[in-house]
Amino acid sequence: MVNKMYKCNLEIISNELLTNKIYRMVLKGENRIENPGSFVEVTIPGFYLKRPISVADYTNDTLTLIYKVLGHGTDKMSTMLKGESLEVLTDLGNGFTNLTKNPLIVAGGIGVAPFVNLVKKFNELGIKPTMIYGEQTKENYVLLDFFKENTKELILVTDDGSSGIKGNPCSYLSSNKIDFDKYYACGPNIMLKNLIKLTTNGYLSLEARMGCGFGACMGCSIETTKGPKRVCKEGPIFEASEVIYE
Ligand SMILES: Cc1cc2nc3c(=O)[nH]c(=O)nc-3n(C[C@H](O)[C@H](O)[C@H](O)COP(=O)(O)OP(=O)(O)OC[C@H]3O[C@@H](n4cnc5c(N)ncnc54)[C@H](O)[C@@H]3O)c2cc1C
Ligand code: FES
Repeated sequence: MVNKMYKCNLEIISNELLTNKIYRMVLKGENRIENPGSFVEVTIPGFYLKRPISVADYTNDTLTLIYKVLGHGTDKMSTMLKGESLEVLTDLGNGFTNLTKNPLIVAGGIGVAPFVNLVKKFNELGIKPTMIYGEQTKENYVLLDFFKENTKELILVTDDGSSGIKGNPCSYLSSNKIDFDKYYACGPNIMLKNLIKLTTNGYLSLEARMGCGFGACMGCSIETTKGPKRVCKEGPIFEASEVIYE
């Protein structure tokens, strides 16, 4: 796959709080992103290292990011205003390239972000995926109406049992039979690690601390059954069967 990485300055159209520390930022400017699950590197004013954020959604001239305030960089990002511009290195990573007929989406926490566009892409093919969406507590859920409307079944699981079924996506999967051909998973490492113990029949979107974000520094390398691979370049989407967790 050819990456068409390019740098651009995009204007912030909106930057709104969705729920506890989770924001949605919509940026305006020409957009050539092709695959759901790819990501951008955002230059946050005052910070040397760029921050990788998944493309939650995009059109020809908009880019939507859904991000959680974790540290100083994302905190600064949450204070940026409509009309300001943001430097973005865009169209990074491979994205989800193999869309199957009977998909299962497994989302944990802010790992839900890339699934907005993936669900839309499935819908364009006439497919409604089944989705398991895990959160610590019900206040953390985002875009539930969108996911309810555009999936075949939306299964909510919370650690504290405040919404849906008490547990996490893996505990749900281990005790319930779901019919699917491939899964598409993104979430905390612990969720992905437990998921591949249950089944490797799918794809994982991995996170790593990143330096350059486009394959030059090797800082994001992981071990796979096919040798070391860079999360930013060969990933962030990997076949679950090739990922090795220590
Ligand atoms: C390919 C990719 C896609 C991502 N997509 C999203 C997204 O759509 N929405 C979103 O909210 N976040 C996403 N992230 C995570 C995001 O990059 C980090 O949350 C962000 O860089 C933190 O920056 P900060 O300056 O706020 O935090 P820092 O001050 O740099 O760190 C704060 C805390 O976050 C931890 N942290 C920082 N970066 C990462 C990371 N990459 N992985 C795990 N822990 C980290 C640090 O260990 C520290 O504990 C993605 C990461 C990758 C690699
Ligand atoms: S972050 Fe530099 S190679 Fe991946």
